[in-house]
Order: sequence, then structure tokens, then C-alpha cells
Amino acid sequence: MIKVITYGTYDLLHYGHIRLLERAKALGDYLIVGVTAEDFDKVRGKINVQQSLMERVEAVRSTGIADEIIIEEYEGQKLDDIKRYDVDIFTVGSDWIGHFDYLKEFCKVVYLPRTEGVSSSGLRSEKRSLSLGLVGETEFLNKVAQECGFVNGIHVGGICAKSTAFMSDALRELPVITDDYEEMAEKVDAIYLRSQPAEHYGQIKLALERGKHVLCESPVVLDRGKYRELQRLADEKGIILMEAIKTAYATAYSRLLLLLKEGKIGEVVSVDATCTSIKSIEGSLQWDGLYEWGPTALLPIFQILGTNYMEKTVVIKYQDEERRHDGFVKADFVYPKAVASMKVGNAVKSEGELVVSGTEGYLYVPAPWWKTDYFEIRYEDRSKNKRYFYQLDGEGIRYELVAFARATEKGRDVAANIDHEVTEHIAGVMEDICEGKGIRLI
Ligand code: CTP
Repeated sequence: MIKVITYGTYDLLHYGHIRLLERAKALGDYLIVGVTAEDFDKVRGKINVQQSLMERVEAVRSTGIADEIIIEEYEGQKLDDIKRYDVDIFTVGSDWIGHFDYLKEFCKVVYLPRTEGVSSSGLRSEKRSLSLGLVGETEFLNKVAQECGFVNGIHVGGICAKSTAFMSDALRELPVITDDYEEMAEKVDAIYLRSQPAEHYGQIKLALERGKHVLCESPVVLDRGKYRELQRLADEKGIILMEAIKTAYATAYSRLLLLLKEGKIGEVVSVDATCTSIKSIEGSLQWDGLYEWGPTALLPIFQILGTNYMEKTVVIKYQDEERRHDGFVKADFVYPKAVASMKVGNAVKSEGELVVSGTEGYLYVPAPWWKTDYFEIRYEDRSKNKRYFYQLDGEGIRYELVAFARATEKGRDVAANIDHEVTEHIAGVMEDICEGKGIRLI
């Protein structure tokens, strides 16, 4: 039996891909297709690929041409695969002529003529780029703008802020700079909100009513009913309202959720998340600790244990006599078979770690866990301990933008890493705390 192998990204599968696969198959009896996981286009410096890895794998599978589909995850894998699968022929399109000659030592290398006139890049460039309007007064928006530069299909079209002091040169050169939210909403396709959480509700409503998609830094709103109302409005209009918590899009974080689901530490009994930073509350532009950190710390709690907790107790230490600014907040949750705690604040410093304890072992993410590229799973028998390393691109913001751009294109937030239910419960915790429900002060 002659085994053939070929590799590609297969984004927006087209006629050129299918013709290549057919000819590759015809070279032998058994065709293995390697779909590349990598979506960063080194030549163009962007995340260009429009479809997720699973969508691309499915597209290749649906052609019915491949006998086996594998995923290409690391450099040097081609050689490993050729040996592992005992491959006779390696083939790719003629755009790669010469590039894979080094494999000739191990198998036959065939460059098939490329089909003229069609390419993934061509198909991608026919798509319109989403113009994103930034709203808020913080340096964080400079990072968002920078990360947009790495994502194909989305660009910053304007900014709405009362001051320009925090803006990088790139933001100062935007075509729309205004302090009038309505004016900006008119001129862009989508909004990135990083304004004060109390302003979100009105701003989101206005944007949705005008058909503009919204990516909103969490907490999206400070009231679960209002969140439900906004999400309903977005659904009715076929518009995207997505919660932004960059950690949800960090590769290490999403992988650790999968490992927990697989039962790597047995049954989860406790989730403890701490996020703190000491920041002055001078001026009104800074978010308080609860808003700044609460959603991030609640994320693993709700994503690992779900939202059906039976009991919640919250203790707050305010920074000022008037109780306008919280300095430290500790919330404890009791579930039927587990517990969780979040410790957040911007007037207290602690170890920013995430610990998930289970019946067989525990998962440890060192500080700062919310932007980590590394974690460990530890057991009683230390020889079984495992360390996991991942690439952290753009602190997660980059992939958050990719998910948002894809969602707007599809009209559904299938690519989002945060469920509506989690967003609603984060809003609910904020609501209870703002209303002083079940809160103890120290
Ligand atoms: N291919 C081809 N004819 C085309 C396009 C692609 O034969 N018109 C081949 C490539 O040579 C490669 C395989 O299909 O062997 C997968 O290509 P891929 O890089 O995924 O697709 P492109 O359309 O070339 O993507 P891009 O425009 O991003 O380079």
C-alpha cells in the first residue's frame, strides 16, 4: 500500500484545495491530510485564518477524500509523521517548490501544480474588515488597539474618550476621536466598551438599537435582569453582545479547563482564585477592585463548578469612610459538593494564584494566573506531577478579538469562550454586592 501525506491550513476550503487533495490521493492508496493548527501568519504578521481548527478539519473531512486527518501542531512534525505513519510520498502544491526537499531522504517528495486563480487569502480579502470603536479612558485601550493589528478582519475605526492623555500615538491618529458616544457609535460597526461599568447599560442599549455589535469589558452590567434584557435585544436583532475577559482566551487557561473536565485531578472540591493589585483610586477613571478583578476571579469558579451554588457570603473592606471605593472583597460560594472563594482588591496585595483542589490531586497556576502561559498538576506521588506550557499571545486579547470578529460574521457567538449564563451570574454577583445583599463589612 502506498501512503501519501499532505499538509495545509485549508481555511475557507476552496476548489484549489479539493483539486490538490484529489491529485494527492491519486498518487497512492491511502491519504493522510495534516491540518495546521497554527493560525498566525508569519509573513503578514496577523491571525489571518478565518475558521477555527475544528471547522477546517470538518471541511477537509466533508470532502471524503482523506483516509485519515491529523493535526499539525509543532515545527518538525512533518518528519516525525513521515516516520510514524511510514509514509511513501509527501506532497504539497507547487507554491512550496524546493521548500521540502530535505524530506527526500525519508520519502518521495512531489510538488503538484497549484490551481490558478483561487486562494484562501483571496477569499479572505473579499471580506469587509470590521471597524471597531473604542470607548473608555484607560491605557488598556492602547493594548486593545495594538492587538487589533494582529487580527485580520478587524481594525480600530475610532475612539470615544473625555481626555486624550492616555492615548498612544496610534490612537491619536484615528479617523474618529470624539467625546460624543452617539457620534462614534454612528461611525463604526462595533464597539469595545471599557467605560465605567455603571455607564455600560445605556451605552450597550444605544449600540444594539443602532445595530452595532458590542464587546464589553466585564462586568457587562451590574444587574442580572438588565443583562437578560440586553441579551434578548441583541438576539432579536441578530447582533453580538460579548463579554470581554481576556483570561478566557488565554490558551493555558482554556487548556486547564479541558484537563479538569477530563478528570485529571478527580472530582473538583474547591476553586480558589485571587487577583489583587495596589492602585490609587485618585480620580474617577480607575475602576474599583471589585469591577477590575471580580469578573476575572469569578470566571474559573463559574466555569469549573457551574452557577448553581447554594450559598454565597461576601465580606468587603472599603477604602474610604463613605464606602464609595472597595479595597478588598472576599466572596465564598458553597455548592452541593464543592466550595469556592474569590479574593480581589486594589488596596491589598496577595499571591495572585489559582488553586483547584480535587479528590486525586490539584491544579496550581502561579501568579499572575490570569495571564499565565504555565500551570502544574500535582499529586500526592510527586513523580506523577506534570507541568504544562503554552504560548500566551497578547494576554488573550488577540484571541478574544478573533472570537468577536468571527461571531459578528456568523451572527452567533459560537466562538465565544464565556457562556451567557456565566455572564449573567457575574452581573448577578455585582448586583448583590452593589445592593449590599448578604454583605458583611470589616
Ligand atoms: N493549493 C493549490 N491551489 C490553490 C491553493 C492551494 O493547489 N489555488 C494547495 C497548496 O499548495 C497546499 C494546499 O493546497 O498544498 C493547502 O493550501 P493552503 O495554504 O491551506 O491554501 P492557500 O489557498 O494557498 O492559502 P493562502 O492563500 O493563505 O496561502
